Amino acid sequence: MNRLTADELRGKYINFFVSKGHVQIQGKSLLPENDPTVLFTTAGMHPLVPYLLGEEHPAGKRLVDFQKCIRTGDIDSVGDASHLTFFEMLGNWSLGDYFKEDAIKMSFEFLTSPEWLNIPIERLGITVFQGDSDAPRDDESAEIWKSAGIPENRIAYLPKEDNWWGPAGTTGPCGPDTEMFYYIGDTPCSNDCKPGCSCGLWLEIWNDVFMQYNKNVDGEFEPLARKCVDTGMGIERTVTVLNGKSSVYDTTIFEPIIQAIEQASGSKYQGGGNTETDKSIRIVADHARSATFILGDPKAVSPSNVGAGYVLRRIIRRAVRHGRKLKAEGISLIPIAEVVVEQFKNAYPELEENCGFIMSELKKEEAKFMETLQKGEHEFEKLLPNLLKDPRKIMSGRLAFKLYDTFGFPIELTEELAAESGMTVNREEFEEAFKKHQELSRSQSGQAFKGGLGDQGEMAVKYHTATHLLHQALKLTLGDHAAQKGSNITAERLRFDFTHDSALTADQLKQIEDIVNEQIKKDLPISIETMTIEEAVKSGAIALFGEKYESQVKVYTIGFSQVDFFTKEVCGGPHVERTGSLGIFKIQKEQSSSAGVRRIRAVLR
Ligand code: ALA
Repeated sequence: MNRLTADELRGKYINFFVSKGHVQIQGKSLLPENDPTVLFTTAGMHPLVPYLLGEEHPAGKRLVDFQKCIRTGDIDSVGDASHLTFFEMLGNWSLGDYFKEDAIKMSFEFLTSPEWLNIPIERLGITVFQGDSDAPRDDESAEIWKSAGIPENRIAYLPKEDNWWGPAGTTGPCGPDTEMFYYIGDTPCSNDCKPGCSCGLWLEIWNDVFMQYNKNVDGEFEPLARKCVDTGMGIERTVTVLNGKSSVYDTTIFEPIIQAIEQASGSKYQGGGNTETDKSIRIVADHARSATFILGDPKAVSPSNVGAGYVLRRIIRRAVRHGRKLKAEGISLIPIAEVVVEQFKNAYPELEENCGFIMSELKKEEAKFMETLQKGEHEFEKLLPNLLKDPRKIMSGRLAFKLYDTFGFPIELTEELAAESGMTVNREEFEEAFKKHQELSRSQSGQAFKGGLGDQGEMAVKYHTATHLLHQALKLTLGDHAAQKGSNITAERLRFDFTHDSALTADQLKQIEDIVNEQIKKDLPISIETMTIEEAVKSGAIALFGEKYESQVKVYTIGFSQVDFFTKEVCGGPHVERTGSLGIFKIQKEQSSSAGVRRIRAVLR
């Protein structure tokens, strides 16, 4: 077996294209700048879009690089032979320099030359664009392949869905592409089996895109003045075929990662992916690798409930859950992440630089999730006997929502648990309940004079009470001017905006934390009264300036009596019964929110 590694493939590719006059450029962050349409860099060409659109690249017209990418659209397919959420792409570009002939000849030489990848011609298959009313059949590319040595019967002509790259339905540069496949089979699946056939025996490893048209506003394809070539070779797939394997997980790339998982879990990877154990090992391997790369990125995000942070949270949590399938008490992702760092640090030194952050974030998220999981799974098991009575085997979306709302149990995991018992979840109903809940809490929060109490689960209620403690602690530390400007609570954290001119010092932050934690330690009771707003203000309750109140308002008092209290606020609730249940209050971040307004983000541990 050929033991070629990703490091070696990267090295060969870069060297080859440098020898052909290309300049190596740095791959970019996984978290794209200035592109609000996507959360992650999804293809090698992604950071180069401005240059493909005509901007001059400072490094010239011939470029080569390797780029880390994340695609999570198919996350549910991870565990099969080929799907990954994190992958690497090699690419070479011509920005108005060479076009089809040189691009194809270079691809052919790199793939087949004994000096480079040395793939036997019999293993290769090519697809080219078959032509339609917008653009003619790409005979030019087919002829170049043939003259290079690819036999006619190994070239297939396919429509736009397969052999076209560019903006879907919008305007901009686009064009036909030609894709290179490696045939891993022995006998064709049928008489019609040809490159690009979906029988699973043709693995696509490389794509040369010829950007030669501009799709204009009338939907016409007009020839581009400056034609470009954009290519993408998938590292994992190419290593797979060169290693003589049929799954990306059975390669030199995943070998050390899977060994680390075996060691941590005591499970054995059979290869082939047919067993549940193999599947879980693959999921842990892929997700641990993705999470390590996201956390190791110079622009890393932390796990959160929005955007890229939410994807990261989902990836980590899914890995943790599959780790628990491998070993009852679960496995930590940390030793696996350490192997990933070790394996990829040459190509991506940022992994080693950010190693401390990667491990501490993993640790925190694992601990948080373990707690959520135990509660959520326990609740699901309690529901299960009743659920199984439904002959249609459909779990109601409302029930799934309740698990999410009360325990922070993610819908994806409810779906997975349901699937394990042969059930599906009514997702539409879940989304409906979710939306309704959002609307309701928005209007409730209006009544309650509190912004964004979007989630009334157990944790959110705790955060709500913590918010009152924080509000008062701010006033005690900074002065009465430190009034609430906004509040946003999730099951994971609170965020609080308040009036204040300058950044808080470390001492002030510490003092605020101490005050809040003192009140928690005192285990103060919380009581509720209804009165008019005038009475409330007179009794010392904090009310929000400029808010419109109903004639009767609720006042929450945190303290031993109506006289001896820590804080009183006009509020719609709900709150915990005693502060002792909150845990430990910790400020994670203090920053500017807008002019004269500061923002604190804090958690309960
Ligand atoms: N941009 C092309 C791809 O990702 C090369 O397949």
